[in-house]
Amino acid sequence: MIWVWTGEIPQQPLPFVPTLEQKECDVAIHSHFVMNCHPNVVMINPIDAQHLNTVHQLPIEVFFERQELNENAIIFTNTTPIKDNSSFIKIIRLFYKNAITYSICYWYGSISIATLGPDFFHVHTMLAVRLHEGGKAEGQILLITKKRKGIFGWLCNRIVLWLTKIAGKFFFMGDIKVLQTIQFDLKTPIKVDQPIMQFINHVENSNP
Ligand SMILES: [Fe+2]
Repeated sequence: MIWVWTGEIPQQPLPFVPTLEQKECDVAIHSHFVMNCHPNVVMINPIDAQHLNTVHQLPIEVFFERQELNENAIIFTNTTPIKDNSSFIKIIRLFYKNAITYSICYWYGSISIATLGPDFFHVHTMLAVRLHEGGKAEGQILLITKKRKGIFGWLCNRIVLWLTKIAGKFFFMGDIKVLQTIQFDLKTPIKVDQPIMQFINHVENSNP
């Protein structure tokens, strides 16, 4: 990936994974795509809580907490408490201390970094989009995880990134269908739509 600053001297930092700012990472290149919808539609997808239930059939409601990292970066973190005492939930609790890890960090309104995985192994999916000809969205996905020591750490990272790539493709298939046909008519937003409005406000108020 080559990041280009169109002015003489870069005024803003490169986007980074909030927990890995100064750390070494292992990276895998995922897919490059062109989609028949505006880039903004692609961007809001991970914080569109309603689509998590309808498109991805997630059995729980997701609530996000917002945090401004700086004037150009905003983070939405899943804070839904893990309730219920079923045996399935008990297994989930072994991997997640508080809420299930799902957070999205947006940079410049055109890059999203989704953080997933159990507490001991986070994987980050970076999605960079730009406007393509004909009002379409062109995007590139990168998978990132913290560098781990030794040959075992290296192998572990390669396997996890590869598995994430497969899982990502599966999720993306569901999104492709809705993103290209979605019609926004946000007249009476409900509580779960709030992150989308917060994101739009953040982008409109930040530096270009
Ligand atoms: Fe999605």
